[in-house]
Parts: sequence; C-alpha cells; structure tokens
Amino acid sequence: MEEEKKSSEIVKVEPKPSKGFSSKVIDLLEKVVVKLFYDSSLPHHYLAGNFAPVPDETPPTKDLPVIGYLPDCLNGEFVRVGPNPKFSPVAGYHWFDGDGMIHGLRVKDGKATYVSRFVRTSRLKQEEYFGGSKFMKIGDLKGLFGLLMVNMQILRAKFKVLDISYGNSTANTALVYHHGKLLALSEADKPYVIKVIEDGDLQTLGLLDYDKRLSHSFTAHPKVDPFTGEMFTFGYSHTPPYVTYRVISKDGYMHDPVPITVPEPVMMHDFAITENYAIFMDLPLYFRPKDMVKKNTLIFTFDSTKKARFGVLPRYAKDEKHIRWFELPNCFIFHNANAWEEEDEVVLITCRIENPDLDMVNGAAKEKLENFSNELYEMRFNIKTGEASQKKLSASAVDFPRVNESYTGRKSFVHVIDAKTMSADPVAIIELPHRVPYGFHAFFVTEVCVP
Ligand SMILES: [Fe+2]
Repeated sequence: MEEEKKSSEIVKVEPKPSKGFSSKVIDLLEKVVVKLFYDSSLPHHYLAGNFAPVPDETPPTKDLPVIGYLPDCLNGEFVRVGPNPKFSPVAGYHWFDGDGMIHGLRVKDGKATYVSRFVRTSRLKQEEYFGGSKFMKIGDLKGLFGLLMVNMQILRAKFKVLDISYGNSTANTALVYHHGKLLALSEADKPYVIKVIEDGDLQTLGLLDYDKRLSHSFTAHPKVDPFTGEMFTFGYSHTPPYVTYRVISKDGYMHDPVPITVPEPVMMHDFAITENYAIFMDLPLYFRPKDMVKKNTLIFTFDSTKKARFGVLPRYAKDEKHIRWFELPNCFIFHNANAWEEEDEVVLITCRIENPDLDMVNGAAKEKLENFSNELYEMRFNIKTGEASQKKLSASAVDFPRVNESYTGRKSFVHVIDAKTMSADPVAIIELPHRVPYGFHAFFVTEVCVP
C-alpha cells in the first residue's frame, strides 16, 4: 500500500437529546400506535431465561475461585459482547436489539477477575437521559406497525428529540483489535473504542470515524490481515451504494471508499479476505420495507427463488471494475470461517444456511432457533474459468466459527471437531460471580508486557 497517512482520533460521544414539548407529543403518539397496532400479549422470548439481561454492570470482582489452575503464561482478558437491554422495550424486541454489554475475564499471574460493562453508546446515553427506550427496534419492524414505528424514529430525529449525529446502534455484536485499539462493533454503526484497564475494567473512550472518512456503517466482522496489519472492512446500507468496501492501513488510516454494486439492498453480515482478494456475499435476504407492510413480514425477507452471489474483488482495487461475480444455489450465510487461494481458485469455508427466518419474534424462540440448519461448506471460485462449486464438510449445526487469526486469509487446515470430545478435562474452571446472558462474539486481548 501507499505511504501511511495520519491515523484517526477517537471521537467523544456527547449526544444532545431534548426532553421538550415535541418529545412528549411523540411519546404520546407512540403510546397510541402501540395500543392500537401492537399485540401486547406476545411473549418476549428474547428477554426470558438466559436471554434475559442482567440488571446491572459488575465492577471488577477480584480473586475468583479457580478449580484447577490458570497457567502463568495466560495473561490477558477474555472479552465477550452481547445484547443486554438496559430498558424494557415499548413493544417488540429482537435478540439483535439489546445494548452491547461486555463481559470480561481478566486473567493474570494465575488469578482471575470478572467485570461487566455496557458499551457507552450514543443510544444508551440518550435512553439513560430519558430513563426509557426511545430508539427503534428490529423487533418492531414488522407489518404496518413496523412502518409506524419507523416514523416514530424519523419524527424523534427530525424534531431533535434524539440526536443521531453519533449513530443509533448498540455495539452489541463483536470485538476486534486493530491499531492498538479494542473495538466494539455492530453492523449498523461506527466502531466504539474500548480501553482495557490494568485491573480488568473496561472503559468506552468514544467512537472512530477515521477523521470523518467513515460516513457509512461498519461491519461487525472486519478482517485483520496478520501479515500486513491492515484491516479490511465494509458497510451495507438500504440506500445506494448498498455496499461500500474500505481498507484501513496498519497505522489506522482509512483509504477511499470502493462502492460495490448489488441489485437490491441485502443483509450482509460477514465477508472474507485472502492474500489478494476480498469476497462479498450478495445473498437473498432483502431489505424490503414494502413487503413488510403488504405481506406482514419482517423488514428483511428471504427470497428462496434467488441464487446466492459471491463477488471476488482484488483487495486493493480502487473501484469495482475487476470484481467477478459467481453464482451458487440459494442460501444465506451469517459467518465465514476463513478463505484462501489455491492456484486459480479462491476457497471459502463458510456456515451455510437454507431458508433462514429472522422472524424469531413470534413463536417459541427455541423452536425457531432449531429451524436454522447451519452446515459447514467449502465453496470454490475459479478466477480463470468463472466456475463456482460447493461441497458440504459437516452435516451438524455449525456457526460462530473462529480460526487462529494468525491465519486469516491464508490456508489453516480446517479441522472439524466434535465439540463433545474436543477437549479432555479443562485445565481450569473459573467461577463467575454473576450470570452471563447468551451473547454473540468473543475475543482474547493478550497482555503485552512493556519492559
Ligand atoms: Fe456475527
């Protein structure tokens, strides 16, 4: 890449919401809409059982009981982020809606400390100011009611009840470490910077907009190349360009946007990189607000008649002129495991899903989750011939894959392991002082000793 440029500053998040007359009128309007159009007898499965949020943060709790022993060489903090709504919803709630809370397990010198902290997003700060839920939720975006609730959000933004200048999302999805910063991510927003303090505590410093060069959303699953230190990322949107690809240098400079053309706005949760390529997934989970109202569906609807499309772009391309699109049978994919190159082929190892249903708002959550049949697949895209092929690697449900990140974008033989037998007795079991609700992705922040 070209010479490094100035890296970005952290933006302090100081939203200015307003409790004035407009706020009260919109609250009243929302109450009427909820009363008339929302079935309040629907259960909130994603607020029950171990999906339920914990009510409070936990400051660092030291010297936790350890059964077995923690090796001296294991120094760092295991951090896991997930949704933990601080306030009750006014109507619907989807698992993706909760405020990001990070659960941290600090391990040092054979001792363990537990902490949990909210990511101090603009959204959370504003809801704390109002003392209740004010931002739109995915769980509400169904049918005519969904359209009305979208308009509540538009009204609150228009009349400056909510300040959306710092984004409006939750940082609840995943964590990545790049350019000396731990970032908490959700795909509809910008990255939040988290400081890991010596005692294990976690502090939100602000967000990154890469010196105002980032004006679109930022995936929760960027890829850091372990050999070059660069971070590769993209954002997707419901307005053109529906996808924008970015490269960030190892020193934190964000290069110019590369718009990627797809025919319709889709949910694009992950992508992949290899040594020379970036792989985009145009999969038929469409953003279709008209269908939401007409067919009473969720705002993202899956079309089982469309092919799955994969775009392979030279990873330092300045535009999409050289992207090659490949087609495979209909599917959806949340997460890829890894990708690499073999001669003329780009190989993608991925968790393929047939007939996904994001509408897990109604019905039993457990039953709906079981409807997800995720299978590990190998997909191959031949750059020379334009042919694509796929084969199943495992029939069992697989998702949230992790590889050793020293091999991101390179070939790390894939071992498919039965989780029931992959491990003998654990080396250590640490007793946590509080329940940790189900969450999304985790990360281990290794301590670097500075002499
Ligand atoms: Fe994810």
